[in-house]
Amino acid sequence: MSAMSELRVVVLVSGRGSNLRALQAAIDEGACPARVVGVVADREKRCDALRYARSRDIATQVISPREHAERAAWDAALADAIGKHQPELVVLAGFMRIVGATVLARFGGRIVNVHPSLLPAFAGMDAPQQAIDAGVRITGCTVHLVDAGVDTGPILAQAALAVRASEDATELHARIQRLEHRLLPHVVGAVARGALQLADGPRWRDGEPSALFDGPLSRSAS
Ligand code: GRF
Repeated sequence: MSAMSELRVVVLVSGRGSNLRALQAAIDEGACPARVVGVVADREKRCDALRYARSRDIATQVISPREHAERAAWDAALADAIGKHQPELVVLAGFMRIVGATVLARFGGRIVNVHPSLLPAFAGMDAPQQAIDAGVRITGCTVHLVDAGVDTGPILAQAALAVRASEDATELHARIQRLEHRLLPHVVGAVARGALQLADGPRWRDGEPSALFDGPLSRSAS
């Protein structure tokens, strides 16, 4: 993809869709030279992300595991649903399933996920609760490349915040999500501008920030 082109992005969702909205808002503001060309969900019910996408005239499709006898068939259907939009980047934004071999074979290396912890700590479900249970003082969110594992792919960018003694997992998750809403558009924008290259392994252009600390974007290392 060439720098400054409008990056074609397909977003996979399962629920609320606040990250999808944040990404679209950044695009609308001109901060992210990308276009959400399709939204694919694994469910119709309780998926506000789908309703938002439709309200924005973004093409949507539901690929439910219930309608496929085997996981491999579901994964192949998911790959087709993604592929028909010819995306340059696939974003998992609250997609609550593990993508399979067919999706990885077709789009691997250009699928990113946003996760509400500083990976590799607290992979999997309920990451904010895991952070509270572990008593960590700092947590945050990660945007990483997706591989065959659960939240294990190469880390692209992270954002951190201090855990408040008084807060529960719901409050902590809400604050982490505010960081996600900045970090994800930042990463997508960086890919679109060529500041983050994904081909042949991820590489940030020198000087581009890949870390965010509950404040302005700052250099990850200086
Ligand atoms: C986010 O916290 C993300 O990190 C996790 O699922 C949540 C999705 O939220 N993977 P939303 O649907 O984008 O509001």
